[in-house]
Amino acid sequence: MEKMLQEIKELKKEKNAVILAHYYANDSVQEAADYIGDSYYLAKIAKESDADIIVFCGVLFMGESAKILNPDKTVLMPDLTADCPMAHMADIEKIKKMRENYEDLAVVCYINSTAELKRYSDVCVTSANAVKIVKSLPNKNIFFIPDENLGRYVKELVPEKNVILNDGYCHVHADMTASEVKMLKEKYPGALVTAHPECRQEVLDLADFIGSTSGIINFVSGSDNNEFIVCTECGVGYELRRKNPDKKFYFVGKSCCDNMKKNTLEKLIHVLKTGDNEVTVDDDKRTESLVSLDRMLELAK
Ligand code: 13P
Ligand code: SF4
Repeated sequence: MEKMLQEIKELKKEKNAVILAHYYANDSVQEAADYIGDSYYLAKIAKESDADIIVFCGVLFMGESAKILNPDKTVLMPDLTADCPMAHMADIEKIKKMRENYEDLAVVCYINSTAELKRYSDVCVTSANAVKIVKSLPNKNIFFIPDENLGRYVKELVPEKNVILNDGYCHVHADMTASEVKMLKEKYPGALVTAHPECRQEVLDLADFIGSTSGIINFVSGSDNNEFIVCTECGVGYELRRKNPDKKFYFVGKSCCDNMKKNTLEKLIHVLKTGDNEVTVDDDKRTESLVSLDRMLELAK
């Protein structure tokens, strides 16, 4: 592994490339990255970067967002088939119908969505800023796509709005159950429960803290507690352990995202060497989806 990390370092310098990795990527890939973070942080970093090449170790909507924000840069991904199934779980026709039904509708699009969906939306959000952004909108009626669980979480925290839910979901988080969390609680009674808002309501009901991946990492790092049940994707364990070597973490069930794990050091070296796997977004789609992404960056400040 050391040899591969060294090779990546040299290639990065030679190509003026920067490596961004989501907290869900493999440990070795996070080790090779210049920036590791949640979706919101990585979108901001992508926009601020002055490298010629951005290598995005995440899933396709993340690489696409980086390209939309940086049309003049080359955005590469170690594996272009690393896609988030939830990113496709909303329907343009349904959005159009909803707009007909509500005159003042704002379509709020979780960043975990295709560029095509972003194009039909008014503003993007991530799990780190969804509540803040929905609160700040002048619209009363909100159609939240694609994730039902994050939408429901926002609806509960912003009761003054009429948040209409869509039926998309993340299979990794939606597969976690209250009985699994309760079993872990019985085994480790001193552990605090942390959960990503993509989890089902029955899991969120058991949580001591609910937040995005970076929210969970900050909560754990600032807590005096020593044990945590973590209801999110297993890759977060890398940063949790790095920041908190003396604390213990218990993950729920099969909590790994196969798509995120498609990012490997071998593929990272390959794209750095060859320039393969370039992310492209056609011009019309790019300029139209940029509006909702830029609005997110503005409102989340
Ligand atoms: P974050 O918004 O916490 O980065 O989560 C992204 C994601 O894919 C959750 O499954
Ligand atoms: Fe998509 Fe879920 Fe994987 Fe996140 S964990 S990338 S929401 S499938």
